[in-house]
Amino acid sequence: LASVDVDVSHITEGQAVTVMWRGKPVFVRHRTPKEIEEARTVDVAELRDPQTDQARVQREPWLIVVGICTHLGCVPLGQKPTDPRGEYGGWFCPCHGSAYDTSGRIRRGPAPTNLAVPEYEFRSDTQIRIG
Ligand code: FES
Repeated sequence: LASVDVDVSHITEGQAVTVMWRGKPVFVRHRTPKEIEEARTVDVAELRDPQTDQARVQREPWLIVVGICTHLGCVPLGQKPTDPRGEYGGWFCPCHGSAYDTSGRIRRGPAPTNLAVPEYEFRSDTQIRIG
């Protein structure tokens, strides 16, 4: 399928779901106000792959990223409530220890770039089309 529709109405604050798109996991996270705040108050100049949170997010509180570590392609942990999310509160890649923040930006470890943001659009307040 070229694109996939996601109904986000059931995803509560703090929860995340994984959907498959073109054979890849895509993470959809309903961020908490604290997570959004953390993502926005980072000094972008200090980032390895400098991007503002605003450039990565279309509509709050939704963060949508491809769930593939940009180091060697493992799927980072952080989707389940019991998963480790690493020291920056986003995702943690267990393969070689890359830590991503609440905007999916690389903060520590060997990954060279941020988690990719796929093409997507909001069809309504609760419907997202990825791809
Ligand atoms: Fe994720 Fe190496 S594949 S840190």
